[in-house]
Amino acid sequence: MSRIFSGVQPSGNLHLGNYLGAIRNFVGLQDDYECIYCAVDMHAITVWQEPEQLRKNIREVASAYLAAGVDPKKSIIFAQSSVHAHAELAWIFNCVARIGWLNRMTQFKEKAGKNRENASLGLYAYPSLMAADILTYKATHVPVGEDQKQHLELTRDIAQKFNNDYETDLFPLVEPIIMGEATRVMSLRDGSKKMSKSDPSDYSRIVLTDGKDDIARKLKKARTDADPLPEKVEGLEERPEAANLVGIYAALAGMTKAEVLQEYSGAQFSTFKPALTDLAVEKFGPVGEEMKRLMADPGYVDSVLKDGAVRAAEIANPIVREVKETVGFLLP
Ligand code: TYM
Repeated sequence: MSRIFSGVQPSGNLHLGNYLGAIRNFVGLQDDYECIYCAVDMHAITVWQEPEQLRKNIREVASAYLAAGVDPKKSIIFAQSSVHAHAELAWIFNCVARIGWLNRMTQFKEKAGKNRENASLGLYAYPSLMAADILTYKATHVPVGEDQKQHLELTRDIAQKFNNDYETDLFPLVEPIIMGEATRVMSLRDGSKKMSKSDPSDYSRIVLTDGKDDIARKLKKARTDADPLPEKVEGLEERPEAANLVGIYAALAGMTKAEVLQEYSGAQFSTFKPALTDLAVEKFGPVGEEMKRLMADPGYVDSVLKDGAVRAAEIANPIVREVKETVGFLLP
């Protein structure tokens, strides 16, 4: 059986990259798969989070899922910390994963920065918890943006080593689902950096709750070069900012980059940016509005999360029991 699992960190500033690279894709998958979508709050605290803000951010992630169109009856929406199987399996995986594997993780290197000695142990072990998130449901497919590819390879390595060490076929080897024209949305201020929640500049990203004026202001200020748009996709090579805006347009419009260029080849950014703004407001605006409405109703969002946690635990607990038995723990 095929099962989908994915997660988003509740660390605030949910942005266009999170939406186009991941959240939007969650919606269509509901028709063909059993889907489990999580607010990964235990991952969020690998860097300091203010507790009251964290609670809001967990509801924000759940609201984003709902506003994008995830149906809480069909799919499971829940917070990671409310299903204890994640933490239990993560510990077992900490004993399977090798330090050398984790040393190669680029996200750790980026997030820890120069002062690696001062990073939390949790930040280092982050990918092992991510493997636990997925495998505690024996999920087979994981929709994510391109930046998570390396973590999913590590998940496969952990599953494979566990299966080898214990001579079992308990865990499946997960497949990433990286789809659409915006699998890596770049910063609006610097086409060489990915759009991220933690960039100090608000102008680097469009957040889900941005209104029309914010979107217009940020796109107007978005860095570009001086040339008109090319005729062919190859003409976007070496033009990271232009490629980024064309990719965003394509993803929002449900077109390919080539189709966007057919329509806009030769156009200056003074024409293309307002067109992109209108499109973003049309496609993205209603999601932000719905999200704000949901965030003003925490009672409803909490009830969705509570129901989701019960259903998630029903799937996860027997699997963790099977893992514990395989490892040699005594089962009460
Ligand atoms: P997070 O919270 O950083 O991002 C959530 C999702 O958004 C995607 N994404 C992007 N896609 C395109 N362009 C961008 N600039 C961009 N920035 C982020 C991410 O690829 C991700 O799909 N480790 C994960 C959370 C996680 C998880 C999991 C995901 C924890 N456990 C299990 C899948 C399965 C993360 O940090 O996502």
